[in-house]
Amino acid sequence: MSFPTERPRRLRSRPALRRLSRETQIAPQDLIYPLFVRDAIDEPRPIEAMPGQQQHTLDSLTREVEAAIRVGVGGFVLFGIPEQKDAQGSAAWADDGIVQRALRQLRDAFGADPLLAADLCLCEYTDHGHCGVLQGDIVANDPTLEIYQRIAVSQAAAGADVIAPSGMMDGQVGAIRAALDGAGYTDRAILAYAAKYASAFYGPFREAAGSAPRFGDRRGYQMDSANVREAVREARLDVAEGADIVMVKPALAFLDVIRAVAQATDVPVAAYNVSGEYAMVKAAAANGWIDERRVLREILLGIRRAGAQMILTYHAKEAAADIPCWDEIG
Ligand code: PBG
Repeated sequence: MSFPTERPRRLRSRPALRRLSRETQIAPQDLIYPLFVRDAIDEPRPIEAMPGQQQHTLDSLTREVEAAIRVGVGGFVLFGIPEQKDAQGSAAWADDGIVQRALRQLRDAFGADPLLAADLCLCEYTDHGHCGVLQGDIVANDPTLEIYQRIAVSQAAAGADVIAPSGMMDGQVGAIRAALDGAGYTDRAILAYAAKYASAFYGPFREAAGSAPRFGDRRGYQMDSANVREAVREARLDVAEGADIVMVKPALAFLDVIRAVAQATDVPVAAYNVSGEYAMVKAAAANGWIDERRVLREILLGIRRAGAQMILTYHAKEAAADIPCWDEIG
């Protein structure tokens, strides 16, 4: 009598069996590529802490989108860096704001096909760097909602398919849904940053977007990393307010949150593989300490295995190009 009779290794013995037994798949179209576009610059500016990423001009943005479309990336989310900031963040809803111009240019260049999302927040646009308007030192929730409504309508008018509010104000999804519907944009989807944590993993983004708060921090509106039940509450509230997709952010230290939100809701779940997560991979790879392709495959599969259907990642273009070759490495 031979032992053991159960031999899990059988299914790992040949590439074809490994492929057939694989439980989780990722396709290029599952990846959404966040891009920064900056007003009033002539040349793209590299972002030091995010090797390979730039603050784009309208032209370099268009070229990057074209290259990403060619490898099958599923969509784009745009962040704007305005020339002028003020207390209200008024450049965020200007008809000729940088994101509005970028959306129009991309629509002109590529037509209806590419999925274009616009991040909706004030931190890149306010001179104080907070995600809403201030009353004293407090970010005032309800006055901020009125501003978010204006921004949403102007982004939709410029051609955004998806509005992605990231400011973590209470009621933001409901307010934006009402404004979009009132302006006739019933067809535009809301990707809600539902469970967005106050995270040190956003460090490089704040360099990229020039959005670090001038005083204080975001703990008065973003979530505490210790909490997961609260994330489920946030996600349910957003769905009740009309969110089409709910997102968890960051991703890697919050895989349990992705799972919990996926189980508690019946809308698609997104995860944001944020700037600090990207920077760590790039830094280790540049030092020759990790195999970047294989690490990236594990990271993206892990986020998906946790329950995210789509992943926002700065690796989107390079990963999309590499996914067809993953059989060589995994
Ligand atoms: C804006 C916003 C932030 C990120 C996305 N939208 C920064 C923040 O909240 O400070 C972070 C993205 C990243 O780190 O990649 N509110």
